[in-house]
Amino acid sequence: MTEAQVHVLASVPLAHAATADWIEAGIRDAVAERGLCRLVLAGGSTPRAVYRLLATSPRRDRIPWQAVEIFFGDERCVPPDDGDSNYGMIRRALLADAPVPDRAVHRIPGELGVEEATTRYAAELGLLFGDAPLVFDVVLLGMGSDGHTASLFPGDGALDVRDAPVAAARAPAPPLDRVTLTLPVLAAARAVAFLALGEGKADAVRRMLTTDDVPAALVRRDAQMVSVFLDQEAASGLS
Ligand code: 6PG
Repeated sequence: MTEAQVHVLASVPLAHAATADWIEAGIRDAVAERGLCRLVLAGGSTPRAVYRLLATSPRRDRIPWQAVEIFFGDERCVPPDDGDSNYGMIRRALLADAPVPDRAVHRIPGELGVEEATTRYAAELGLLFGDAPLVFDVVLLGMGSDGHTASLFPGDGALDVRDAPVAAARAPAPPLDRVTLTLPVLAAARAVAFLALGEGKADAVRRMLTTDDVPAALVRRDAQMVSVFLDQEAASGLS
């Protein structure tokens, strides 16, 4: 059982800034220790403002982007220019202004359909990590009000995958077909952070921190080091 470091910030902007600072520090530490940072980013809407902070001075100018490899925690099976694309959101919010080389952005090709996209993402990870353990340096995750994280949804088979780094997932709401990193890979990361904001996430946050009965809780349980960034509304379910 991993004890999470929980940070409750006084406002949403302060939660964004604390999360951006955590990512910046994680990147700098990884690059200093290993010469590169393999960074996994969350989709959805919550982290967009965090990515804007990373892509804007002063943080942008302090981060060694040339040593950062960008990965995606999950993707919807839509084209990259679709409004539902996690890659599309991250491209607009971060990659348009942060000098990450195209070769360092490892997009999940969701437009190819869930099976082909899953196969291709897994193959790319295999090529990049080779025989080395599939351990990411920094992972940012969001959380749904049902306690899902990445595209690991309660009751979906992807949550039970233990022998592969990537799985096809089925969401309860459109876009239905998703590709996701699996629980073992997310939990193996050197540093994991959740960002959850707003009253609507309060119960999921409580369950993530005090039970093992939602997917986000299983990541928290199995991960080495977990930070949680909340505003006061998202923390309102905690005693
Ligand atoms: C996705 C995300 C997912 C997200 C949660 C929260 O593809 O939707 O990866 O895990 O983090 O659904 O989404 P919001 O930030 O939009 O609430």
